[in-house]
Amino acid sequence: MPASTGDSARNRHGHEHDVDHPIFAALYDLLPQSFLFAPHREYLTRALSGRVLELGCGTGDMFPFVVDGAGEDLEYHAIEPDPNMRKRAARTARETGLEVDIRDARAESLPYPDDSFDVVVAGIVFCTVQDPDAALEEVVRVLKPDGEFRFLEHVHADGWRGTGQDLLNPLWKRTAGGCQLTRETVPRFVGHEALAVDEIDRLDFGIFPATPFVRGTLRRRRDGMLE
Ligand SMILES: C[S@@+](CC[C@H](N)C(=O)[O-])C[C@H]1O[C@@H](n2cnc3c(N)ncnc32)[C@H](O)[C@@H]1O
Repeated sequence: MPASTGDSARNRHGHEHDVDHPIFAALYDLLPQSFLFAPHREYLTRALSGRVLELGCGTGDMFPFVVDGAGEDLEYHAIEPDPNMRKRAARTARETGLEVDIRDARAESLPYPDDSFDVVVAGIVFCTVQDPDAALEEVVRVLKPDGEFRFLEHVHADGWRGTGQDLLNPLWKRTAGGCQLTRETVPRFVGHEALAVDEIDRLDFGIFPATPFVRGTLRRRRDGMLE
């Protein structure tokens, strides 16, 4: 453990650093890739019903799509640890008329009981969470058996693009709100013993260095081993 990691350096969530990126939050909706996401947000929010949790909802860009795809019994929840993002998400919810319970929390420690959601949605979040393995364990924990985990994520590329991402990653991470270009998200997801793959597609859209993307649906196994 690093010598400097004492309790005094921790925030009220017990994490060493706050997630607090005011400039990234202000610019997020202006990023050039944003307009490319619409069909994938439709995929993530298709026919939503029951209790649904969105991880890292950012400025609430998913909310208009949630309203369009909502079933009558939808109960929508979201977490977002960055206060700048959360404020914008609350405004988007008001503007789109979505009833959503937005909480200040991280994907690595979700403030919900076991087996409590029918669907968990992650849109470009596992690139940014500080501990993706812990976040995935939490997704599995809060999903009901047979519940769906739907995701859209950019991942580490192969070949020269991957090498370029390795070189750019330290600078990218600092300027893009903690986002990382080098996450091996597919092996992490498909390798989890409690999750079965319904579908996963590799998508060659996006602008280097945040490309390629993958999107898919995993399902929590009924007999999934949980610790
Ligand atoms: C690239 S943005 C994506 C925002 C939104 N999901 C979307 O579809 O546009 C990544 C988001 O993850 C949030 N985030 C950062 N660390 C997180 C964590 N540990 N748990 C959950 N969300 C986190 C960031 O604050 C940011 O809002």
